[in-house]
Amino acid sequence: MSERTFIIIKPDHVELADAILTELDHLAARKHTARVDVVPRDVIESHYAPHREKSFYQYLVDSFVGKPVVIAVYQGEQAIQRVMDACGHTDPARASSDTIRGKYSIDSLEQAITEQRPVRNVIHRSDSMAEAEREIEVWKVYLR
Ligand code: CMP
Repeated sequence: MSERTFIIIKPDHVELADAILTELDHLAARKHTARVDVVPRDVIESHYAPHREKSFYQYLVDSFVGKPVVIAVYQGEQAIQRVMDACGHTDPARASSDTIRGKYSIDSLEQAITEQRPVRNVIHRSDSMAEAEREIEVWKVYLR
């Protein structure tokens, strides 16, 4: 089934945007791409609203505000699962070395929790169709 998914290349890794997009381009069709030079607080708060009650929510949001990201929408058969598989485990320490998080991050969730900061896991990706559509709506002003 053809579906849409949404990705964010996080501020710490925007210099890798071309390499990461090229890798994802093999999995699905890229429909929109945008560089957001200065992420507004209200946009990233809405994006991470499902995590609002989590202990890491505030510093996760703060790590994006005022910084650059690259965002994209992909569409294709099983696009959500294919992009999730290519990104690898949320915890880079558990992501296999052939995934984006395994390849480009040396961070670990354990270290991030100890240091009370967001884990540097390179990329955000949607984890369901409902989330993808919600996230695309949040970022739509940039996705012309
Ligand atoms: P992402 O796919 O952007 O979705 C939520 C993000 O929160 C996740 O990737 C991580 O960057 C971050 N995250 C999740 N759990 C933790 C945690 N326990 N401590 C710090 N950051 C976390």
